[in-house]
Amino acid sequence: MEIVILSALVARTAAALSDGVKMTTLLQVQNVSKSFGGLRVIRDCDLQVQEGSITGLIGPNGAGKSTLFNLIAGTSGIDEGAIYFRGEDVTALPAHDLFSRGLLRTFQIAHEFSNLSVFENLMMVPGGQAGESLFNACFQRSQVLDEERALRQKAQDVIDFLVLGPVKNELAGNLSGGQKKLLELGRTMMVDAKMVLLDEVAAGVNRSLLQHLATNIERLQRELGYTFFVIEHDMDLIARLCDPVIVLSEGQVMMEGSMVAVRNNPAVVNAYFGGGSTIAAELV
Ligand SMILES: Nc1ncnc2c1ncn2[C@@H]1O[C@H](COP(=O)(O)OP(=O)(O)OP(=O)(O)O)[C@@H](O)[C@H]1O
Ligand SMILES: [Mg+2]
Repeated sequence: MEIVILSALVARTAAALSDGVKMTTLLQVQNVSKSFGGLRVIRDCDLQVQEGSITGLIGPNGAGKSTLFNLIAGTSGIDEGAIYFRGEDVTALPAHDLFSRGLLRTFQIAHEFSNLSVFENLMMVPGGQAGESLFNACFQRSQVLDEERALRQKAQDVIDFLVLGPVKNELAGNLSGGQKKLLELGRTMMVDAKMVLLDEVAAGVNRSLLQHLATNIERLQRELGYTFFVIEHDMDLIARLCDPVIVLSEGQVMMEGSMVAVRNNPAVVNAYFGGGSTIAAELV
């Protein structure tokens, strides 16, 4: 396996061994509420995500799933309650602080990056390289070159891991929907992500690429210790990837359990049908 990914794996495995094998709460959402213009979209919401899990978040359209992700990722401020990440209160932290702590959500490739190649998109991700400072660029050239070399190696490792080699030099704007999602996932690998929020990752992705994407999500969890929190309307994908699954309805957690338990819960099925959701048929 590639050098950088292997060393990350060894470091994480060592940390896991020294901690002992135990379930640790990575993310805790505590009594969180959020309103938009008087409409209470998230209501006293309580949930936890365990470290190393792929936790699903499902619910009818308009249940508040994406809003909750925005609150967790710091792209929108909460009205009430608290959010803890790795035991620390991160409630008021902006997105870039959370990002540097390893909590991130994938974003669509920004318009201005669509004219860069896949490789260049990966190279753009990490901040704080020595070369970004004019002083360093002029006076510490060997350090800059070392970092540049390490960065290129890391980008190549990510490309190998995700099997993006055939499109390495393709412009991001020319990729298919599924290849773009893989690149978005690859961008999380360029920083030391602990937890990645995925909002409707399957949307617009063809079936075969979706299986490749799902396999990579599982590999990132198993081999690199990622924790995923996944919003998805594709119930087959949720059933394949996620345990547990949290059901959100009208801004509150309705239940948490295995996908089998969720499918067998009449209240959940009612919430889907009651909301007139188009995905009710996929749930049952
Ligand atoms: N910025 C906003 N301003 C006003 N209302 C908003 C805003 N963002 C979300 N809402 C409202 O909050 C509610 C929840 O929306 P949200 O997008 O979180 O639902 P969702 O569960 O992600 O739905 P979907 O499955 O359709 O993506 C909706 O009624 C939506 O109209
Ligand atoms: Mg949404």
